[in-house]
Amino acid sequence: MVENAIKEVYTSLLPKTMIIADLGCAAGSHSSHFISTIISTIVELCKSSADDCVELQFFLNDLPSNDFNELFRSTDKLKRPNSTGEMAHLLPLYYIMALPESYYNRLFPRESVHLFHSSYCLHWRSQEPEGLESWRKDYLNEDNIYITKTTTSFVVKQYQKLFRNDFSLFLKLRHEELVHGGQMVLIFLGRNNEDVYNGHINQHFALVARSLQSLVLKGIVEKEKLESFNLPVYGPSVGEVKELVMQSHLFNMDLIKQFETNWDPFDDSEGDDVEDSARSSMNIAKLARSLMKSLIVSHFGETVLDAWFAEFRCLVAKHLEKEKIKSTIIAMSLKKE
Ligand SMILES: C[S@@+](CC[C@H](N)C(=O)[O-])C[C@H]1O[C@@H](n2cnc3c(N)ncnc32)[C@H](O)[C@@H]1O
Repeated sequence: MVENAIKEVYTSLLPKTMIIADLGCAAGSHSSHFISTIISTIVELCKSSADDCVELQFFLNDLPSNDFNELFRSTDKLKRPNSTGEMAHLLPLYYIMALPESYYNRLFPRESVHLFHSSYCLHWRSQEPEGLESWRKDYLNEDNIYITKTTTSFVVKQYQKLFRNDFSLFLKLRHEELVHGGQMVLIFLGRNNEDVYNGHINQHFALVARSLQSLVLKGIVEKEKLESFNLPVYGPSVGEVKELVMQSHLFNMDLIKQFETNWDPFDDSEGDDVEDSARSSMNIAKLARSLMKSLIVSHFGETVLDAWFAEFRCLVAKHLEKEKIKSTIIAMSLKKE
């Protein structure tokens, strides 16, 4: 999808400089992979052109708390396409900048960006849903931390409202910043079911909630602390995403796809069998720890982290004995006419 988007933007607009942004880039190597993909695609396109190759300016965006130093160490090791011999002159000049700011704000001057990319970010909300605390200081989602079977319809509506507001704002801001003919490739966690209570993402966070509930029973976490904890995430269905894009009247939706991956990021197998539940549960628990560490530490304190990790890994291992756990991914390509 990224290759197609960059080819289309380049061949239809023939810009001298392309502005490309990776939103929610984090500190790992995914941005380097994204940048390499763009550069290789441009090299292929420039082979058949008599003009000077386009220059590329990449903006790597994340929240100001992101470890941009670590990120720049990984982009330093970027694998460049073969840059020796006759092909060397085809290699585009490229510049990489950091952009520390929430993407729920304007990030660029109007009509200046050619391609936006964002992977594994847009299921995170801008804040926790509001109004989940009643006037008597009862917490309306009790010891759930996301939408589970016992979550009330009021709480579900608060989550959905927050998703609609965030996603519509994101579309509006990016539309202002894109050039005409510019594109966005967005990949994020979604829900495999129109039923808001019943998706892989609900299953993931129900297991996280159960592990925290066990810590309450063991006296490691206070009950009230757990009851006041609600995750700022929402996994939408494809239907919900399509509806918001259509309602915005801002983009043409070139493609939207939903697919499944295994929750264990190192398991590429296609079947429903778990080969080694101890190893898989460790992979899943490490993934969850890297994603949730800052939220857990800021709400429950640093001391809870190791106990939570052990409890969660154990619950996941038990669950994997019964069934493999999947994730639902939504990938979409949008174009500004
Ligand atoms: C799971 S990581 C994804 C990292 C990388 N894009 C990848 O594909 O592996 C999600 C990232 O989104 C960032 N993020 C969440 N909300 C954001 C916001 N409002 N503005 C910018 N970045 C945000 C987080 O800080 C985190 O680094």
